[in-house]
Amino acid sequence: MSDVVNYQVQGDIAVLTLNSAPVNGLGHALRSAIQAGFDQAIADDAVKAIVIASAHKIFCAGADINEFSSDKRFAKPELPWLTTYLEASSKPIVAAINGAALGGGLELALVCDYRVASPAAKFGLPEVSLGILPGAGGTQRLPRFIGVEKSLEMIATAKIIGADAALELGLIDAALPAENFLEAAIEFANKLVADNAPVKTCADMDVSKEGVNDATFDDFRASIARKTKGYFAPEQCIQAVKASTELSLADGLKKETELFELCNDTPQARAQQHVFFAQRAISNIPGLDKSVAPRDIKTVGIIGAGTMGGGIAMNFANAGIPVVLLEVKQEFLDRGLANIRKNYEVSVKRGKLTEAQLETNMGLISGSLSYDDLSDVDLVIEAVFENMNIKKEVFAKLDEVCKQGAILATNTSYLDVDEIAAQTKRPQDVIGLHFFSPANVMQLLEIVRATKTADDVLLTTLKTAQKIRKIPVISGICWGFIGNRMFEPYGRESTRMVLEGATPAQVDKALTDFGFAMGFLSVIDLAGIDVGFFAREGIREQLAHDPSYQVICDKLNNLGRFGQKTSRGFYIYEGRDRIEDPEVVELAQATAQELNVAQREVSAEEVIERTMYSMINEGARILEEGVAYRSSDIDLVFLNGYGFPGHRGGPMQYADEVGLDKVLERIRFYQAELGEHGKNWFEPAPLLVKLAQEGKSFKDYEVK
Ligand code: 3HC
Ligand code: NAI
Repeated sequence: MSDVVNYQVQGDIAVLTLNSAPVNGLGHALRSAIQAGFDQAIADDAVKAIVIASAHKIFCAGADINEFSSDKRFAKPELPWLTTYLEASSKPIVAAINGAALGGGLELALVCDYRVASPAAKFGLPEVSLGILPGAGGTQRLPRFIGVEKSLEMIATAKIIGADAALELGLIDAALPAENFLEAAIEFANKLVADNAPVKTCADMDVSKEGVNDATFDDFRASIARKTKGYFAPEQCIQAVKASTELSLADGLKKETELFELCNDTPQARAQQHVFFAQRAISNIPGLDKSVAPRDIKTVGIIGAGTMGGGIAMNFANAGIPVVLLEVKQEFLDRGLANIRKNYEVSVKRGKLTEAQLETNMGLISGSLSYDDLSDVDLVIEAVFENMNIKKEVFAKLDEVCKQGAILATNTSYLDVDEIAAQTKRPQDVIGLHFFSPANVMQLLEIVRATKTADDVLLTTLKTAQKIRKIPVISGICWGFIGNRMFEPYGRESTRMVLEGATPAQVDKALTDFGFAMGFLSVIDLAGIDVGFFAREGIREQLAHDPSYQVICDKLNNLGRFGQKTSRGFYIYEGRDRIEDPEVVELAQATAQELNVAQREVSAEEVIERTMYSMINEGARILEEGVAYRSSDIDLVFLNGYGFPGHRGGPMQYADEVGLDKVLERIRFYQAELGEHGKNWFEPAPLLVKLAQEGKSFKDYEVK
């Protein structure tokens, strides 16, 4: 009867099997087909009960998120209407939940009279991560089944639970075995018919108010405050659940719709939905032959047991992959291994790891001072000093000792991976794997595809990234790759504004108000002003034309004020306190005078425009050069590697939201307004000009 719902009658039972690949998204076609199947079952006197099942691994992933940005979600039957319509069924409906029932998928299950689940079932209302709230009754019906506190957790923090928990909470009526699951679900329905089991509606159920009062909501709000700072939807979720305790089902549903609409048409919802699709687009790599077989990665070698090497080793040990960690001297190796142990001990203290797991992980990491121990590893990641000559030596050595087929990767932050690859006789096996610090924590992994990198090497590193729970983004070759190249103008403008008269605290406050956890100047105090100084060494010639470039950082570096590690940088550090440093302000005044830079008031708006728009301008160049394959990849780099506020969806999404014409206009404004600095650094990127003129956004541009 329909492509997307298979309708079958087996004895007394009508089975409606949702068949809209891949995830039974409740788009218009599926909604219509469910209604038609349901009407047919109701009209058929021979049918005594209905089973809703799935033809796919997923039961139902909820509303079709693609429809949110269009009027399609209003095409009848709308999901909220359909759920209420099914709830009023005169015949019992059983949801046979074989896999994930998320968002509208769970809402569909909640209006069924009975729910049975296989061990693979998952239950969740993750709408809040899309900047919205459940809009088809979830906020009103779930609390009627599992109570207020658990509902708050699932609705406002997107917590997903499995079949066992669902059974315990009373969300499902039976847990059935995976084998012959559908048959068992039909059997369950037959039994309902035999027992003359009643139909049910949530309108007859009350939300348990035992122990629930205003403090329940306040305490919950406080418990998620840090993680949800700046986000709009979580509070609306709380309000909706609160409404379920105060209103009838019908009125509660109206309130839910109001709150849903309040969330959906917002920049945050657009940004978070953009991120959802961005995450799924990353593995779409132009020109990659996906039919090639990935290589097997069973053992890994890491060279350098410093800050990065240690963290990288932990990632692999955590995934159960043995690591050989190579150093130049026993004392460096001992120090590196001790740091790894210390990090694990912190996890044990926090209850995130057991002592036994700590020992297992440490047991997977063996130290070595000899390249011979790398002769059999499948992947080597070099994390030695950021110096081309040293890296070249290391790769020449690897070329000698590593087995054929081993992947040779560098964790360089800025250097040319092609030049490193050329040091070997197997450039096809060389790739950049750029982890972020702390490498055992940060989710981003920039995979740098060198000119000669083989497809199977790229594919293998993508798969390996997933294994070690990283979010991989492919970058082409250029100085700093996607992230550090764009971070450079962000940092440049932040420090330049100190030279122009803003205090570090003013700059940082504008950035934290925008949503960053820390402002740039606090970040480099943490990372080390000396680190940036050395990174600039490689590009001094290109910077020679601008004596004001990062001059405050250079001066602080020369004063030995490296940031937190020396208790002084842009701020003074006393214990855990960060205090403003009047000497930095004086240093900026004196330097401004020296360089003939006029000091003035700098507004928070200017801080945001100059940092964001100069970063976005560089992003446009990166896109045009094909260094990133799509603007959403750039967004993922900043969201997962640089603490860009999640609710803004990344710098490029932010630009699309502001409008590229406005971004261009302000870049031109600063180009004209900021004298030499403007001329030097605010030349609009040609792609930005082109897209702005055509009235397009970055989203419209995809590298071929
Ligand atoms: N709408 C539209 N497309 C969706 C979708 C949805 N709800 N869920 C998944 N997809 C698409 C993905 O974009 C992807 O498309 P692609 O192949 O073109 O890239 C494809 O389905 C497969 O998805 P995944 O790659 O994510 O597949 P996995 O097997 O890894 O994961 C999943 C499956 C766990 C269901 C995961 O897709 C997921 O979490 N989906 C979203 C769940 C969700 O947030 N639901 C709430 C929707 S909003 C809602 O229901 C509002 C309602 O309350 C009114
Ligand atoms: P680090 O100075 O902490 O560690 C480097 C280690 O390499 C030292 O322990 C040193 O003894 C060892 N080493 C040097 N030469 C060696 C050789 N020939 N053989 C074996 N070991 C050798 O440096 P860090 O910060 O870990 O950086 C390493 C690499 O990672 C650099 O390329 C850096 O640019 C990159 N990186 C650093 C990040 C950071 O935030 N620190 C972030 C991302 C990348």
